[in-house]
Amino acid sequence: MINLGVEPMSLELARLRLDGLDSEIITLVAARLKMSQRDNVFLQKQIQDLVNLGMSPGFAEAYYRLLTEEGLKSQFETQNAGHPDEVIQLNEIDRQLLVLVVERMDISIALTKTKLNNNIAIVHPEREEAVLQGRAEKAQSLGVNTDFTKRLFRLLMDEGVRIQREVWQTTTLKKRILTGVRPTGPLHLGHYVGALKSWLEFQETYECLFLIADYQALGSHIDKPELIRDSVYQVTLDWLAVGLDPNASSFFVQSYIPEHAELTLLLSMLIPWKRHIGNPTLKSEMADMESEHNAMSLGFVNYPASQAADILLMKGDLVPVGEDQRPHIEETRRVAREFNRRYGENRTIFPIPRIYTGEVSRLVGLDGDAKMSKSKGNTIDLRDDPETVRKAVMRMFTDSTRLRATDPGHVEGNPVFIYHDIFNPDVDEVADLKARYVLGKVGDVEVKVKLAKALNQMLDPIRERRAYFEAHPTQVKDALIAGTDRARKIAEETMREVREAMRITRYAEG
Ligand code: TRP
Repeated sequence: MINLGVEPMSLELARLRLDGLDSEIITLVAARLKMSQRDNVFLQKQIQDLVNLGMSPGFAEAYYRLLTEEGLKSQFETQNAGHPDEVIQLNEIDRQLLVLVVERMDISIALTKTKLNNNIAIVHPEREEAVLQGRAEKAQSLGVNTDFTKRLFRLLMDEGVRIQREVWQTTTLKKRILTGVRPTGPLHLGHYVGALKSWLEFQETYECLFLIADYQALGSHIDKPELIRDSVYQVTLDWLAVGLDPNASSFFVQSYIPEHAELTLLLSMLIPWKRHIGNPTLKSEMADMESEHNAMSLGFVNYPASQAADILLMKGDLVPVGEDQRPHIEETRRVAREFNRRYGENRTIFPIPRIYTGEVSRLVGLDGDAKMSKSKGNTIDLRDDPETVRKAVMRMFTDSTRLRATDPGHVEGNPVFIYHDIFNPDVDEVADLKARYVLGKVGDVEVKVKLAKALNQMLDPIRERRAYFEAHPTQVKDALIAGTDRARKIAEETMREVREAMRITRYAEG
C-alpha cells in the first residue's frame, strides 16, 4: 500500500495522478493486446454497459480487455500452447500493470477514506471485500488468476466510486447536517445520549458540520466570557473524546465566522417581531429569565434569528436537535422560504432544512428531574473520573416509596433503572436486578454499584481519548482550525449569494 497518511495529497493532485496512471495502464494494455493478437469483439456489449453507467469509455474498454486477456492467457498457459518468450514478455507486462493498478487502487481508496472535500462516499470495507471475493471466485471458475482479477475488479470498483463521488460533489446528493451546542460547561451523559451518540452515526453517512455557538452562549452568560472561551475548548475535547472525527466532520466556532453576524442581522430584518416573540421556546426562556430577575438583552432575545443564520449560512439539510428546539427550526424554514420567494427569483438560495429528532432525546437527571442539566446540578460529566461517577451514582434518586431493601420496589420511572436500561450492556444482569428489585430482594446499593461499574466501563475509552488529546493540545486546536476553514468557505459563498440577491453590493465593486 502506498501510505498517503493523514495528510493525503490534494484532491487535484490525486486526480492528476489517477489520470496519469490511467493513461500508462491503457498504453500497457494496448501493448499486451497487440502482442497476443487477439480480438475480443464479444466484450463490446459489456464495455458499452459500463459506459452507460458513466464510466469513461477508454478506461472501461482497457480493463475489460485486460481481464479477458488474462483469462485467455491462463488458458493458453495451462494448455502449454504458447511460445516461452511470449509468456515471459506477457508476464513482464502483467507485472508492470499490477504495480500501476495497485498504486491507482491505493490512491482511489485513500481518497475515498480520507473524504477530501467532505463529500466523498464511504465504501464499507465489508461490502467491498464481499464483492471482490465474489468476483474472484467467478474468475477462478473461469480459469483466471484469482489475485490478478481481484485487484482489477477492485480497481474497476474504485473507478465506480470515483465517478459516484464526482457526481455527489456536483449535485450534493449527500445531505448536509448542521447542529450545535452552546459552550457553557463540560458535556454530560445527557448530551451523549441525546446528541453525541447519533452524531457518531451521522458521521458515516452525512456531511456533518458541528457548531460551537459561543455568541449564543453570551446571550445567557454575558458576564462569563472566560467560561465561554474555556468551554469552547472543553466541548472540542469532549467531541474528540467520544470519537467524533475532525477529518470526517467539520467542528467550528460561531464567532470565527464573521458572515454569521452579517446573516443574523439580515434575517432579523425579515422575521416579523410578533411571530418572533410567539416562539414558545423563547417565550418560556424569557419567562424564566424574568422570574430570575436576569437582565434580558436584545442579543438574547434575538438568538432564534442567530440560530436560523447558523443553519442557513451552512445550507444545512438536516438539523438534529431536541424537541425543545423545534420552534427554532420551524422559524428557520419559514424565513428561508420567505427569503427564497422574495429575493431568489426562482432560485433556491437557502435549501429548506428539516428537523431530525432522535428516539432517545432526553436523559433524566440524577435527581429524577426530567432533564439532566448543568444548571440543575444533576449531571455526570463525560470528563468525570471513576470515583466521581461512583459517588454521583450512589447519591442518585431511586424509588422514593421504598424505605427498606426488603420492600418491593418500582422499576418503572426509577432513574437508576432508566440508566441501567440505557448504559448497561449486560441485559441479563439488568433483568435479574429488576426481577429482584420488585420482589424486595435487592438493595439500592447493589443496583447502584453495578450501574456505576457499567457507566465507568462505557466512559473508560472516552477518558482515554480525552487524556490523549489533553496531552496533544495542538491537535485540538487544529481540529477547530480545519473545521472553521471549511465552514468559512461555505459561509463566504452563501453570503456572496445573499448580498447579490438582496442587492447589497458596493458601487465601488460595480
Ligand atoms: N440552541 C441550541 C441549544 O441550545 C444550540 C444551537 C445553536 C444550535 N445553533 C444551532 C442547534 C444550530 C442546531 C442548529 O441546544
